[in-house]
Amino acid sequence: MCGIIGYVGKRTDAGVLAVQSLKRLEYRGYDSWGVACKTKDGVIIRKDIGKISTVDSADFQQPSSLAMAHTRWATHGGVTTENAHPHVSCDGKIVVVLNGIIENYEALRDELKTKGHEFVSSTDTEVIPHLIEEEMKTEPDFAAAVRRACLRFEGRYGIVAMHADSFLLVAARTGSPLIVGVEKDGYFIASDTPAFLEYTSTVQYLDDGEMVVTDGNSILFSDIATGEERTKREIEITWSVTEAHKGEYDHFMLKEIMEQKQSIARAVDQDEDQIQTLARAIHAAQGTFLVGCGTAAKACMAAEYFFSVIAGHHVNFAPASEFKLYHRFLKPESLLIAVSQSGETADTLEAMKIAKSKGAKVLAIVNAEGSTIAREADFTLHIKAGPERAVASTKALTGQMAVLLLIAYAMIDKLPKGRTRLLETAAAINDMLNPRYTEFIETIAERIQESSDLYIIGKGWNYPMALESAIKIQEVSYVHAEGFAGGELKHGPIALIEKGTPCIALVGNDEVRTDIISNAIELKARGGFIVGIAPERHAVFDEWIRVPDVDTAQAIVNIIPVQVLAYFLAVKRGKDPDMPRNLAKSVTVK
Ligand code: F6R
Repeated sequence: MCGIIGYVGKRTDAGVLAVQSLKRLEYRGYDSWGVACKTKDGVIIRKDIGKISTVDSADFQQPSSLAMAHTRWATHGGVTTENAHPHVSCDGKIVVVLNGIIENYEALRDELKTKGHEFVSSTDTEVIPHLIEEEMKTEPDFAAAVRRACLRFEGRYGIVAMHADSFLLVAARTGSPLIVGVEKDGYFIASDTPAFLEYTSTVQYLDDGEMVVTDGNSILFSDIATGEERTKREIEITWSVTEAHKGEYDHFMLKEIMEQKQSIARAVDQDEDQIQTLARAIHAAQGTFLVGCGTAAKACMAAEYFFSVIAGHHVNFAPASEFKLYHRFLKPESLLIAVSQSGETADTLEAMKIAKSKGAKVLAIVNAEGSTIAREADFTLHIKAGPERAVASTKALTGQMAVLLLIAYAMIDKLPKGRTRLLETAAAINDMLNPRYTEFIETIAERIQESSDLYIIGKGWNYPMALESAIKIQEVSYVHAEGFAGGELKHGPIALIEKGTPCIALVGNDEVRTDIISNAIELKARGGFIVGIAPERHAVFDEWIRVPDVDTAQAIVNIIPVQVLAYFLAVKRGKDPDMPRNLAKSVTVK
């Protein structure tokens, strides 16, 4: 979704800094960008469609100590320069960027038009500077006028605003994340920490319904509704700057796939007492529901199998976006497990809200420290994957599955066994992900790169991985890919198989092995070109990608070669795997 960075303080290169910081938010996905910086000649604004990476930060070299910048992921209004942020008031002095949606913008725009305001874009955002301008007619204090304007907005938003005649950065949040980065002589306000991690790792989190005003020397948090001051702790985040760089890799996606050599072991490093407490909470709950979106949802689906096979315990999975209909099953004794990499996904937050409204408890499994989901849950487990910058989720997925598998073992009082299983898996992945292995997968990508369709089958915990495989391939390579439960093939999808259609079979040495091999044979009989991802070779495989035999953790290793395959498919087809079209890293709208 949209990326925001603002800076105010003693630095004199705020314009350059804003552009550089914005480049670090590119991974969030966007279609246009804009920068505003206050200089001795007034506020300079530049905006355009396309990529910020092509912009030379030297263009913003004029001395400046107050600036903000934005990458836009279009919601209201097409991808045009006029619609790019920042947007300004009629006098051009009030400058605003927004992440989120102002739902009542049409009514506000009509009202402001009758008062003489002129609009140049078709965005919801543009009503914000005009409404602040209108409020300033009776409340000349800029920050107070921003607060008054916020009281009239409906929707979920994160706003950052500045005024040409003041040296203030003002921000407000309802629904979309905003984080303050604290430096000795200045403050950053950003939608995500990588924007300022280069400069500081000390942060303060804005909560929903709060605003913040800073002149670079001091900062004031307050409640938007009441105006009351709020005190905030300074928190040190542990993500390092190097983790947020590509290093030796061409793309973040490949770097993050490779990091699974270490990240799974980090995910396993959880406080024993906390995991046992959570396992007891799941036992005691009258109904446990697992929710997430996209890839995180596939981790939840896999966990249904973990809990069933390992712990003999029934849990219910629902995509977070469908959870609204589940409210009838919730009661104070229910438990919701919300799984999210970013910790900011709007649908997952909504599911938490529904559960809480029924008195149910919420356990969050997240990657992003200090994220909204992490802070709003009753208990939080961090998967410790480190920053995930590629839009396509890879190491976060396997971290989420590792934590869920660990909990399943804790439910049968076998936490040490679960930990050993996962640490052995991490070691096996370390051996597996060597250069010869990835080169071999690259040759398979080369062979199938021209195919227009690709199918993936799995059974048991490999079924959600088949669905996840399809997401991975679709989003980065734009090849039409679909995942199926192997047994479902003959009920329809098999009609799609023609001579040479690439089909991937995800296989484990488990109780469903014979069935999934039979399904692969059915595909081959219709001409399918079978790529088997399995611990053992089988005659049905035209190509065999070997994976270690890791028992209950098989789903975790089986998905990794598909991630590599998706990556190479994207690269071979000339697509940028880190920034797939139409997608955003953190989906903060419903
Ligand atoms: C796909 C992908 C998305 C996310 C989904 C949820 O590769 O990354 O499907 O998994 O948007 O995001 P989080 O985990 O941040 O809640």
